[in-house]
Amino acid sequence: MQIVKKVSEMQSISDSLRKEGKKISCVPTMGFFHDGHVSLMMKALELGDILVTYLFVNPTQFAPNEDFSKYPRDLKQDTKIAEKAGVHYLFCPDVEDMYPGGFNTSIHLDGITDKFEGKFRPTHYIGVSTVVAKLFNAIKPHVAVFGQKDFQQTLVIKQMAKELLFDIKIFVAPTLREPDGLAMSSRNIYLNPEERKSALILYTALHDATQAIMNGERRRKIINGVMHNTLRKLSSIKIDYASAADSDDLDEPDEFKPGQKVVLLMAVYLGRTRLIDNFLVTIPGK
Ligand code: PAF
Repeated sequence: MQIVKKVSEMQSISDSLRKEGKKISCVPTMGFFHDGHVSLMMKALELGDILVTYLFVNPTQFAPNEDFSKYPRDLKQDTKIAEKAGVHYLFCPDVEDMYPGGFNTSIHLDGITDKFEGKFRPTHYIGVSTVVAKLFNAIKPHVAVFGQKDFQQTLVIKQMAKELLFDIKIFVAPTLREPDGLAMSSRNIYLNPEERKSALILYTALHDATQAIMNGERRRKIINGVMHNTLRKLSSIKIDYASAADSDDLDEPDEFKPGQKVVLLMAVYLGRTRLIDNFLVTIPGK
């Protein structure tokens, strides 16, 4: 595995690989790898000849009150994990190289970024879409693999890639979970033992809402209510949102239709840690 630090070096490596006819896949990450990241790498290895894993804790997607400075980092361990996973290039640029003239250019998508995460983190997706556009231009991949755990992010990136004419296939890989159901996340490291136990409530709430749908419930407000009721069993929890929406465009009809693909999404605080999770469910019938 080769570690690449400079954008210009990454671009010339990718140009050469493309000339040789290699299919480049990439996995964009902010590092602190866990098995969830490794599963994305495995999928990307299947989808291309050469895998570039991108590792960059992107400052522009964190608001000033968020956890940019304490976001977990461990480049030494990440290098070992990436090497073992079969990554060919680990691209880890520094801030000065990614944003040489400062943060003057940004990409904003209307609509899809207005709700859920976008409502609670209004500048987040501007940071994400801008850095993803930049890393696409640095790595020049044919395919990029993102995790379903950041569900709204995958919609934002698909839309951005389509509208800005990036000739890149966006693949969304399923969320990997701990044995008890908690979605794997680098931020799980923040949880103290009691919060770690409580974190299971997200999975339970998603299950309860899925069960309600399977039992015939189609009314969005009732489905949302099921998630809220389960989450509120934990008195210390703070709910940013727990909502059902169409999984293509996050539309929120009063009632879902048979055959409609729905995403159940939530973001909650356990203590100072903000966790997100989601399930995809198809409304039975038809
Ligand atoms: O999902 C993430 O880790 C980040 O949002 C991404 C896509 C690497 C952009 O910084």
